[in-house]
Amino acid sequence: MAANGDVKTGASRFDPNFTQNVINAMGPKTSPRMREVMTSLTRHLHDFAREVELTVDEWTEGVALLNWAGQMSNERRNEGQLVCDIVGLETLVDEITYKKASEATDLATQSAILGPFFQTDHKVRKKGESVIEKLPEDAQVAYVHGQVVDATSKKPIANASIDIWEASTNGLYEQQDAEQPKSNLCGKYYTDENGEYAFYCLRPTPYPIPYDGPAGKLLQLLDRHPYRPAHIHLIVLAEGYKPITTQIFDKSSKYLDNDSVFAVKDSLVVEFLPRDGDDKAKNQLKYDIHMAPLTSQGESGEGLVTTGMGRGF
Ligand code: BEZ
Ligand code: FE
Repeated sequence: MAANGDVKTGASRFDPNFTQNVINAMGPKTSPRMREVMTSLTRHLHDFAREVELTVDEWTEGVALLNWAGQMSNERRNEGQLVCDIVGLETLVDEITYKKASEATDLATQSAILGPFFQTDHKVRKKGESVIEKLPEDAQVAYVHGQVVDATSKKPIANASIDIWEASTNGLYEQQDAEQPKSNLCGKYYTDENGEYAFYCLRPTPYPIPYDGPAGKLLQLLDRHPYRPAHIHLIVLAEGYKPITTQIFDKSSKYLDNDSVFAVKDSLVVEFLPRDGDDKAKNQLKYDIHMAPLTSQGESGEGLVTTGMGRGF
């Protein structure tokens, strides 16, 4: 395609057998799923390079960006994931993965991306306890509560676990910020016998994703801002139900229409209301979580490669 959008003629100037030769190089021990994924990836990658007539200089810059992402990544920073996020890949993969679940019971709470700041060892907290271990001066506190229920029968689900995590008002998660105590603004809760949960947290505020690396460079080249709308992350697990990884977004937040990582879904936008008679919180949110029962097949997939960096829960 030319810069003006017209399709260029002359694709046949390139070796018509080259892509198939690369695909045919896979050996018989390649697993069927790996073969399927790599065949498609090779085709799309080669078609992309031919379509834009990628130059050696451009390809070299792309490789340098990937290398930079790798060099910047460590257990506190996942730059590869950030690069995927700003091109919408994590959101797309999330949509593809959970589409089946939502088709089966469209009453279940929708999923949203995990993002790079989930920690697997959240402190277990009692119902009603606060996740705030250091209260910023400019923060507002919110009381968040609700019920975890079966999406079909609406029966309460006892002993469901709810991991929650959020950024502070300086835009940083606990593990990004030496000034925040360990376990600040995150926690793991369990529903009681009525399926109810409750916690105090900061009313979330918008923040920029880290933009001092390749993801930021890419955003700058694309003339885009790095901000995410105010949100709280949740992972909800219960025996016999499909796990839910999601985020809830404050209706009054900026950036709901232009989240830098494209994660907002209408059903996840929530309204915080004023709270009276509670000297711990001026805001409140009632939020029920609807879980879809597990069906017997197709609920888990085997990975293509084992990196040890899966969701880990
Ligand atoms: C987050 O919400 O924590 C997040 C998601 C994607 C990229 C960066 C941050
Ligand atoms: Fe976040």
